[in-house]
Amino acid sequence: MKGVSYKELRFNPFNLLGGEWMLASAGNEQEGCNTMTISWGHFGCLWGNNDPTAVIYVRPTRHTKKFVDREERFTLSVMDKSFKRQMAYLGSVSGRDEDKIAKAGLTKVFADGSVYFAEAKMVIVCKKMYAAELKESGFMSRETVGESYPEKDFHTMYVGKIEKILVRDDEYLGR
Ligand SMILES: Cc1cc2nc3c(=O)[nH]c(=O)nc-3n(C[C@H](O)[C@H](O)[C@H](O)COP(=O)(O)O)c2cc1C
Repeated sequence: MKGVSYKELRFNPFNLLGGEWMLASAGNEQEGCNTMTISWGHFGCLWGNNDPTAVIYVRPTRHTKKFVDREERFTLSVMDKSFKRQMAYLGSVSGRDEDKIAKAGLTKVFADGSVYFAEAKMVIVCKKMYAAELKESGFMSRETVGESYPEKDFHTMYVGKIEKILVRDDEYLGR
């Protein structure tokens, strides 16, 4: 994979997150790691010199949350469509209960201060800058609380500064 600048990226974030999904991962080789499928998040500029950032939302029940909380970084792995079945699996079974990464046939790469997957076609390495639990009192849209949080298990949002982007080919570079 080759490293590229965020300035070179050409993709539709709505399709990428909401349609293709991503694997959010965190951990290290010594203490272990975990991953889960995500489709909620954002890419954009925040703080610094319009720093490139990614925001992810993790519910308290996710095993991956322990790793994201513990580590300085998390990664986002974009997988080929052919991995959709594995992504559905990684998004429905917990790493607390089984070695889901091995069962999905993914190869862990411990590098750049975090973990991601050799099979990914794009990897975004993020350094955590901010984390906050969403609060019920913050919702202007009451119906969202009812629809998305019937159990009041509000997500924690993590803002990560994008430190590194690796791509397999030019698919997201618009070349
Ligand atoms: C398409 C899809 C998108 C998902 N998006 C999110 C998300 O953005 N945030 C979240 O907390 N869980 C999300 N999930 C649920 C987690 O991936 C799922 O609960 C997973 O099994 C958690 O694994 P873990 O316990 O090993 O961390 C999503 C699941 C799927 C299938």
